Amino acid sequence: MDHVVAQDKDLAEGGALRCSVGGKDVALFRRNGELYAIDAVCPHRKGPLDEGAVEDGLIVVCPWHGWRFDLRDGSSPTHPGRVRCYRVRVEDGSILIES
Ligand code: FES
Repeated sequence: MDHVVAQDKDLAEGGALRCSVGGKDVALFRRNGELYAIDAVCPHRKGPLDEGAVEDGLIVVCPWHGWRFDLRDGSSPTHPGRVRCYRVRVEDGSILIES
């Protein structure tokens, strides 16, 4: 099922925002013109991944204790566990995420 979470114009290059997809908090990022969506809640202690810095291109760093997650697939290059990754696309100026 598709969910409209934002307007394309509302997320600038290098930006991030938090949205709700089927009752789950999702972090949406735009890097190098591409959109990426992962769980917004860190599996360590529920830190806000949408507020994390993005390093090494596409690795988001949890702002609370530094766990890292790859925006492309939700895997962690440094810690156990992963976050869910969502399909995201733009249609008629709206950003849609598949739940
Ligand atoms: S809550 Fe994210 S690293 Fe601890």
